[in-house]
Amino acid sequence: MSIPEEIETEAERRRTFAIISHPDAGKTTLTEKFLLYGGALGSEAGSVKARSGRRSATSDWMELEQQRGISITSTVLQFPYRDHVVNLLDTPGHRDFSEDTYRVLAAADAAVMVLDAAKGIEPQTLKLFEVCRDREIPILSFINKWDRPSLQPLEILDDIEKQLSLTPTPLSWPVGSAEGFRGVLDQRTGDFVRFTRTARGATMAPEEIVPPDAARLEEGHIYEEAVEELGLLEAVGAEYDEDTFLAGITTPVFFGSALTNFGVRLLLDAVVDLTPSPQPKVAKDGDPRELGEPFSGFVFKVQANMDKAHRDRTAFFRVCSGKFERGMVVTHDATGKPLATKYVHTAFGTDRETLNEAYPGDIVGLVNANDVRIGDTLWIDEPVSFPEIPSFAPQHFAIARTKDTSRFKQFRNGISQLDEEGVVQVLRDRDIGDQAPVLAAVGPMQFEVATHRLENEFGAPVELSMTKYSVARRTDSESAGELRAMQGVDVLEKADGTLLALFESPYWLDRLVSERPELVLDKLIAGAS
Ligand code: G4P
Repeated sequence: MSIPEEIETEAERRRTFAIISHPDAGKTTLTEKFLLYGGALGSEAGSVKARSGRRSATSDWMELEQQRGISITSTVLQFPYRDHVVNLLDTPGHRDFSEDTYRVLAAADAAVMVLDAAKGIEPQTLKLFEVCRDREIPILSFINKWDRPSLQPLEILDDIEKQLSLTPTPLSWPVGSAEGFRGVLDQRTGDFVRFTRTARGATMAPEEIVPPDAARLEEGHIYEEAVEELGLLEAVGAEYDEDTFLAGITTPVFFGSALTNFGVRLLLDAVVDLTPSPQPKVAKDGDPRELGEPFSGFVFKVQANMDKAHRDRTAFFRVCSGKFERGMVVTHDATGKPLATKYVHTAFGTDRETLNEAYPGDIVGLVNANDVRIGDTLWIDEPVSFPEIPSFAPQHFAIARTKDTSRFKQFRNGISQLDEEGVVQVLRDRDIGDQAPVLAAVGPMQFEVATHRLENEFGAPVELSMTKYSVARRTDSESAGELRAMQGVDVLEKADGTLLALFESPYWLDRLVSERPELVLDKLIAGAS
């Protein structure tokens, strides 16, 4: 096999997707069950997720995450399934971190959206799902916890349609619910798949394909009802359609229970069968980088101090073309400098495994590549630059000052590290500089993470004072002079030189936009609101 052929074959086997969900909807449990079905946990689940009430799982590794019981950061898991290689990207489960989710989705070819069957789409997490929809990537929906009292299946479909403007097309339909949840109709085959519970859901749920006559006899009206409901939906055109799914317009829906493993296999099969394998990534110049071309990669995440045992900085990139081999010297496109890749790993929660080779769709963690930033491109042989990931419009702004002036150096280092990771955006006043930077966030919980990390990782306790600013626009140096002279407006600078004009009042901004059209006041992508 020639090298490009080998790469294309390997890329074809890859499925790279992210899971997004409300906190508590079951993302951690589902992740664990995917690993179980992928054989990555041996035959028993439960080894990843610690029992004893501590909500630690593969991806919950930061102290603050454990205290708050939410996932703030995201990690990557790789496991084989059937003859495929699955790369699963975890995303933070809180809307305040929707910008991080957006960046992770830049590295994913599809997403699985997990909803709690009793809650449907919750208002506070709507933004997270909108981010996913805005990315226009294919989305599979998993309605979890069907083993508990739930909304009606049609109510949930309605919710998805109305709140997300995504048309749901069920590919499985529940037979029974709560304690009486027996199995699902597999829309693709027409089969009734009956599940059997296992103790604590620790092993795969045995599945039985029951022919219609036997199902009618054995399950009675709950089976008849499910067949009828699914038939009605098909009649109104809610049938799976590949083109609209791939365009992110429709979402295939699956019902199940991650806890008891019901429906997990069907969902994982759908990930492999329906979601696309990695495709050539389009570069800034509009040309696609073909998969078989020399190696290129795209950095979507930077994370320092992931683990106290490894106090270092990792840049995660997705392989876009070619084969990556450890030790390769790649070019860092932003600086034009060569970069040795001796220390690379796959991240499996806190466990790291050295990685020797990777193909398109795979995620690689590059250790201590200190100049590498989110949005950067790496390549060999033939130069390429991929488009950067746009940042969100911050809506909360706080001035940060060190509580202990003797720790100023640590404060400054910490702030710039958090800026590079995108934990918060850091803005500086040209006259005040590093003494009192303004931290800008999409959601206030980002501040909590920033102060916690500054104190605990960098030994730099900080004091934040909130400002009155509530909206930001991108401007240029010409407009900046005039804007700075106005009341209720300030212009601050990001590390990359971007100028942001901050406004106390959105109404004032609107007036300015209509009365002074010559001022540059570009919109940024909307963040969580
Ligand atoms: P998250 O990562 O989305 O935040 O959710 P996670 O998987 O941690 O699940 C949140 C809670 O919901 C957990 O209960 C978990 O056991 C439960 N859960 C997940 N999937 C299902 C399901 O299909 N059915 C039912 N009935 N429960 C489910 P917990 O009490 O918070 O934790 P634990 O002590 O059970 O681990």
